[in-house]
Amino acid sequence: MKLAPSLLSADFGKLRAEAREVEPLAEYFHIDVMDGHFVPNLTIGPPVVNSLRRGLTKPFDIHLMIDYPMQYASQFGVNADDIITFHIESKDEPFRVIEEIRRLGCKVGISLRPITPITAVFPYLDLVDLVLVMSVEPGFGGQAFMPDAVERIGSLKEEIGSRKVMISVDGGINDKNIRLVVDAGAELIVAGSAIFNHPDRIAAMRALSNAAQ
Ligand code: DX5
Ligand code: ZN
Repeated sequence: MKLAPSLLSADFGKLRAEAREVEPLAEYFHIDVMDGHFVPNLTIGPPVVNSLRRGLTKPFDIHLMIDYPMQYASQFGVNADDIITFHIESKDEPFRVIEEIRRLGCKVGISLRPITPITAVFPYLDLVDLVLVMSVEPGFGGQAFMPDAVERIGSLKEEIGSRKVMISVDGGINDKNIRLVVDAGAELIVAGSAIFNHPDRIAAMRALSNAAQ
C-alpha cells in the first residue's frame, strides 16, 4: 500500500510547505487539475504544478479532470516516475491521449467516474500503468466514499490479472474504509481531507497505514 496525499485539501497559499510536511510518508503527491468544464470546480494548472516541483523529491501523480487532456498534458514538466492520469470521459480519444502522455516520458493513468462501468477501461489495460478508480464524483475533496468502489476494484483486479497495472483509488478514503479498498486490490491510495484536515498530518498518514494492514 502506497499513500498519495491529495494536495487539493492543503492550503493553496502555502502549497510547497504543505507538501513538504507530508513528503516523508508520501509515495507520490496527488495533484488535482480541474478546468471548470469536466468538473464544476477550478484548481491549478501547469504553471503552479511546475513551480511546485522545486524543493520536492517525491514524484507527482497528476490527476487531470479536464475536457481536453491532449491540449494540456505536454505543458506539465514530467519525469519518468511521474504519472499523468486522464479521464476516459474526457472529450479526447483515449488511445490518442495514452500515446501523447507516453510520448512525454512519464507513466500513464486512466481514470473513470463512479457512474462509468468499470469495463470501459478494460480495452486500455495493455497500454496504461495505472487505473484510478474514483470513489466519489470528481470535483471536490471531503465527499463521502461510495462503497460500490470496492466491488469495482475487485473486478478490475481480476481483469488486470498478471499485467503490471497498478490500481489506485481516490475519494473519501479514511481509516474506516482504507482496509476494504486495499483488500480488494488497490495499491496507491489517494487521501485528501483525511490527511490535511488533521492537525498532525504525519499522524494521520500513520493511522491510514495502520488501518490498511
Ligand atoms: C476529487 C479529487 C480527489 C480529492 C480527494 O475530485 O480527485 O483527489 O482531493 O479528497 P478526499 O480524500 O477528501 O475525498
Ligand atoms: Zn484526484
